[in-house]
Amino acid sequence: MIEVFVTQRHSEAEGICSFELTAVDGSPLPPYEPGAHIDVHLPNRLIRQYSLCPGSEQVGRYLIAVLLEPTSRGGSAAVHALQIGDRLHIGAPRNHFPLETGALRSVLLAGGIGITPLLSMTEHLAARGADFVLHYGARSAARMAFEERLHQESVAPHVHFHLDDGAPEQKLVLAEALGAVTPGTHIYVCGPGGFMDWVLQGAREAGWPEAQLHREYFAAPARAQDLDAEDGAFQIQIGRDGAIHTVPAERNVIEVLNEHGIEVPVSCEQGVCGTCVTRVLKGQPDHRDSYLTEQERAANDCFTPCCSRAHSQLLVLDL
Ligand code: FES
Repeated sequence: MIEVFVTQRHSEAEGICSFELTAVDGSPLPPYEPGAHIDVHLPNRLIRQYSLCPGSEQVGRYLIAVLLEPTSRGGSAAVHALQIGDRLHIGAPRNHFPLETGALRSVLLAGGIGITPLLSMTEHLAARGADFVLHYGARSAARMAFEERLHQESVAPHVHFHLDDGAPEQKLVLAEALGAVTPGTHIYVCGPGGFMDWVLQGAREAGWPEAQLHREYFAAPARAQDLDAEDGAFQIQIGRDGAIHTVPAERNVIEVLNEHGIEVPVSCEQGVCGTCVTRVLKGQPDHRDSYLTEQERAANDCFTPCCSRAHSQLLVLDL
């Protein structure tokens, strides 16, 4: 872990604040690739993931931008409470949302705070003269973050803005934004769950192969309470010959593993970050995460024990 302190905080848009983080020991923070995020260990002991989006003036420092979510579980409120000079710990950058190196064209779609990973991708692609376009939608102009950076000369020709409360002709038309299905074109989407599902579903229906769709969720999509009420107990086995433990309806796999002295690293605890991904040797997981791709889910050989359960009576875990 790296100890940092807040060296700048800035209101980027209605409800969105950015925080510049600088290493306490003065050393430059590790380099990262566009799309990368860090774990932020908050004063209230929550760990949350935030995409990195520093500008050119922030070399060796990190910038994160956070939307204050009225329905959050305490993560965004704790970040918004941070003041200049406050110290906290962060993890090294990780990237589950990398740009495809061989792409001939990239289509980036950001909804609201989903601009954060796509902002660094945008600046990276523009600097390389790549063929790409960014569609950035927000509920209103007041909620649009980083407009100044997106109006820079090198970036602006690639950017289309869409406002929910704007004129009909500027609304995002998905089929037009995606264009014809072509090999070599890759689609990247980040934003609220509903927006992402709309984009991904539309792209699949238009025939885009899964391998050309890339997404990063910020939070687990809301799950209906009546679905949770249907949760039943199931069993987990530790390795092919190991002990068998019951996971009751009201507990998750991580809790049961911890109770038996088995530690699986966790971070977000809501199926977003991928930290806890565990191999499954036998059985059918009931995937509840937003991290695994459709292909990975269908393979049934791994799952996220922080939130996922089982369709089969027994899951044999590679632990
Ligand atoms: S801890 Fe983040 S996906 Fe399980």
